[in-house]
Amino acid sequence: MLTPLTTGTRYIKAFVKAFGHTSAARCSSNSYRPDSIRRFISENTEIVGQRTLTPEFKLRLFTPNCRFWTEKPELWPFDDPYWAIYWPGGQALSRYLLDNPAVCRGKTVLDLGSGCGAAAIAARLCGAAHVVANDIDLVAAVATHMNCELNLLEPPVCLTNNMIDSPPKGFDLILLGDMFYDEVLATSLHGWLDNCINRHGTKVLIGDPGRAQFEEHRIRRLLRQLAQFELPECVREENYGLTCSSVWCYCPEL
Ligand SMILES: C[S@@+](CC[C@H](N)C(=O)[O-])C[C@H]1O[C@@H](n2cnc3c(N)ncnc32)[C@H](O)[C@@H]1O
Repeated sequence: MLTPLTTGTRYIKAFVKAFGHTSAARCSSNSYRPDSIRRFISENTEIVGQRTLTPEFKLRLFTPNCRFWTEKPELWPFDDPYWAIYWPGGQALSRYLLDNPAVCRGKTVLDLGSGCGAAAIAARLCGAAHVVANDIDLVAAVATHMNCELNLLEPPVCLTNNMIDSPPKGFDLILLGDMFYDEVLATSLHGWLDNCINRHGTKVLIGDPGRAQFEEHRIRRLLRQLAQFELPECVREENYGLTCSSVWCYCPEL
C-alpha cells in the first residue's frame, strides 16, 4: 500500500516508491465530468518543458509549485494521480521513439497505460498514422488531451476501458511505459501481449527503469534491450536514486 501522502517532495517520493493506491474513500475519477477535470488539471499542475528526457514537448505535471505537492491528501478528489508524473519508463520510451521515428511512422500505435500521454505524443510527433491512448483513469485521458493541445497536436483517441480484458485489436505497435510495477498486472499484460503478437504480429516496446517487479518477472528474459538512457538529475531525485531507464523489445521467440 502507498505510504500516506505527506508534505512536499515526500508526497511524490512516497508515491513513486510505494507505487500503490491511497485512499479508498474517494469517488472514482470516472464519475467526474471532463470539463471539471480539465479545470482541476489547469489549476493544479505546472507546464514542464525541460528537465525531462524529451524537451521536445511540454506536459502538465505536478511540481513543488503545485498546491497538492503540500496539500493534505484527503483533499485530493480523484484516484491516485499517476497521470501527473512523467515516469522514467515513459521518458525512456518517448526518447527512443523521437530518436527512431521510423519505428512509428505510418503505424497504428497503442500507448497502453498512457498516464500523461507522453508516449502517445512522441508517436504523433514521429508521424504515426493512428494513435490510441488507453488508461483506465478518465483523468489521464483528459490530461492527455490537454497535453496534446499544449503541443499543438491532434489528440489521440483516448479509451478508458480495461483493454487487457478484451481480445487484442490489430495494432502495429504497442507502447508500455512503466507498466510493470505490479506482479498481477505484469502477468495479465504478459498473456495479453502474447495474444497481440500471435494474432496480429504486433511489435511491443517497453520502457522501464529496472524496477524489481519488472526485473524479476518471467517476461524479462524474453526482452531485447534497444537503448538505455541516463535520467536527468531531478528525475533521479524524485525516483529514489534510479539512475537509468531502458527500452526493451518483447521478442517471445527468444
Ligand atoms: C506508472 S503510470 C505510467 C504512465 C505513463 N505510461 C508514463 O510512463 O509516464 C501507470 C499507468 O497505467 C494505468 N493503468 C493501470 N492499469 C491499467 C490497465 N489495466 N489498463 C490501462 N491503464 C492502466 C494507470 O492509471 C497509470 O496511469
